[in-house]
Amino acid sequence: MKLTQVTTSDITTESVTGTFEEAVRRSEALRADFLKHPRRYRVLTGDRPTGPLHIGHYFGSLRNRVELQQLGLETFIVIADYQVLTDRDSVDSIPENVTEIVLDYLAVGLDPDSGHTHIFCHSHVPALNQLLVPFLTLVGMGELDRNPTVKEEIEAAGLTTVNAAMYTYPVHQAADILFCKGNVVPVGRDQLPHLELTRKIARRFNQRFCGNRPPVFPEPEALLSSAPKILGLDGSQKMSKSRGNAVMLCATADETAALVKKAKTDPDRRITYEPDRRPEVANLLLLVSLCTGEHPDQIAARLGNAGSAALKKEVTDALNQTLAPIRARRAQFARERGLVRETLRRGIAEANRIADATLREARAAMQMSYGID
Ligand code: TRP
Repeated sequence: MKLTQVTTSDITTESVTGTFEEAVRRSEALRADFLKHPRRYRVLTGDRPTGPLHIGHYFGSLRNRVELQQLGLETFIVIADYQVLTDRDSVDSIPENVTEIVLDYLAVGLDPDSGHTHIFCHSHVPALNQLLVPFLTLVGMGELDRNPTVKEEIEAAGLTTVNAAMYTYPVHQAADILFCKGNVVPVGRDQLPHLELTRKIARRFNQRFCGNRPPVFPEPEALLSSAPKILGLDGSQKMSKSRGNAVMLCATADETAALVKKAKTDPDRRITYEPDRRPEVANLLLLVSLCTGEHPDQIAARLGNAGSAALKKEVTDALNQTLAPIRARRAQFARERGLVRETLRRGIAEANRIADATLREARAAMQMSYGID
């Protein structure tokens, strides 16, 4: 099925996303309110289990999740295993990838023992998945058709045929968020169209089924990451394991040094922070800055004419120092038999408890309780 062949009948003609600037402003206001009213919020975030996580994930989102946990916000983290089926054929690596990602979560400090962090996967929370059915009736084919992120992913994966789950995964994602009535979703810019769709689904469900009764679903808000985007070490736009340009959280100090050594730079010995003109050098300075908190300009000034070898040594040391405690914890957790299973078991139990309650409410709103629920 080609995208262009899908016939469309729009339910509405609303724009796909709000403005980016609006989302940035709203995120800042949210952050301020978290300090005052942490209990008003429930955070839902997630990842596809496609492999162990790297420093792009860490600086872009994991570190932020730990902060939210420390503020006392309840957080559900979905390991989106069903979503993996949308763009690859083999399921062989899923079990290992799920284990790796849980270890990464625990290693960076996401902690189920905090009592308000729950790690679970799609495939074990039936009521979550069931919300997909009514939600699909609230979305027009045209809306799915216009989703820029899905289009990019289809292109990037080089898919010649597109299955229906690929097309509808943003609706599934709405179920991920709304099953627990999540009202804050930390996202990168590329996920904003999905969040906008989730808001519409919540609104339309409430309008269509709740009448004058209280709404079932909140309209969740995006919490945009304030961290700048990290490029791959080869200077390409995206850091990813498959491109071999990513420092994995679980890499050793030596592997990190070797990878940074190969990083692309330019012949100018003078180190300056100019993201547009010298993106590779700027990216390395940014990595140091993310580790140490020092401004990239300052790091560049300190290095002066030292050349790229000195810059790379700086990057390696900063990364290895920041990652050392994470790597030590990860190694220790990996040795604890049953830890991953127990983490998932607890998270799944809590997710099911909440999902069952939400589905019951949704059924009541849709007049499908039949005196049984
Ligand atoms: N689609 C997200 C990604 O590819 C993963 C994801 C699944 C997610 N469900 C979610 C993210 C719900 C946020 C909220 O990274």
